[in-house]
Amino acid sequence: MKSETDIRFLITAGPTREFIDPIRFLSNRSSGKMGYALAEAARAVASRVVLVSGPTALTPPRGVEFVPVTTAQEMADAVLARFEQSDVVIMAAAVCDFRPKAAAAQKIKRTGFGGVLELEPTFDILAELGKRKKSQTLIGFAAETENVEANAREKLQRKNLDMIVANDAGAFESDGNAVTLILRDGKPERLREMPKAAVAEAIIQRALALRR
Ligand code: CTP
Repeated sequence: MKSETDIRFLITAGPTREFIDPIRFLSNRSSGKMGYALAEAARAVASRVVLVSGPTALTPPRGVEFVPVTTAQEMADAVLARFEQSDVVIMAAAVCDFRPKAAAAQKIKRTGFGGVLELEPTFDILAELGKRKKSQTLIGFAAETENVEANAREKLQRKNLDMIVANDAGAFESDGNAVTLILRDGKPERLREMPKAAVAEAIIQRALALRR
């Protein structure tokens, strides 16, 4: 068994941006705080941590390999290229689920817009990792606005994860979070509301326990 300091972490954070034209995009309210806190907590126990991040206002933690990306497709490429060399993968990013079917090459003019924006689903990175998984420990997030635990457990099964962190979508911009950790078997573990740094430590400790 690998010593814990040799475990290689791959963590994603932040939102993605899906372009409508060169100056407009679709995105979401993710601040990146949870993913950056996870990278910091992982770095406290292990020496190799890669943080793949969408655009945020945050400074990457010291000692972490930082890979900035913008779109869901760029995040997919960055994550898939590093998946085989990773032991624990945590998808904390709020990847946009949809993108415009076609991005306009030039700025869309007020007068030239028909009023309908056609969307298509983005590539589901985590589902793909679930298919490719060999010895990796795979952890996903589920930000829900209703039926939080039931929806999260369904995602855990569907995407072949080892653990899913369920939270209420209301926690997106805040410094604290009340999450529920759901493993494949066993009862959900509801953590009381705490700072994201403490939530991150709890998640990293569970990830290490899953590999023991
Ligand atoms: N995710 C991903 N690639 C996407 C969308 C989401 O890897 N294109 C990951 C997220 O990083 C998160 C998990 O999948 O860890 C759950 O994301 P979520 O948007 O809640 O789930 P969906 O599968 O999109 O399901 P739904 O839209 O039905 O809630």
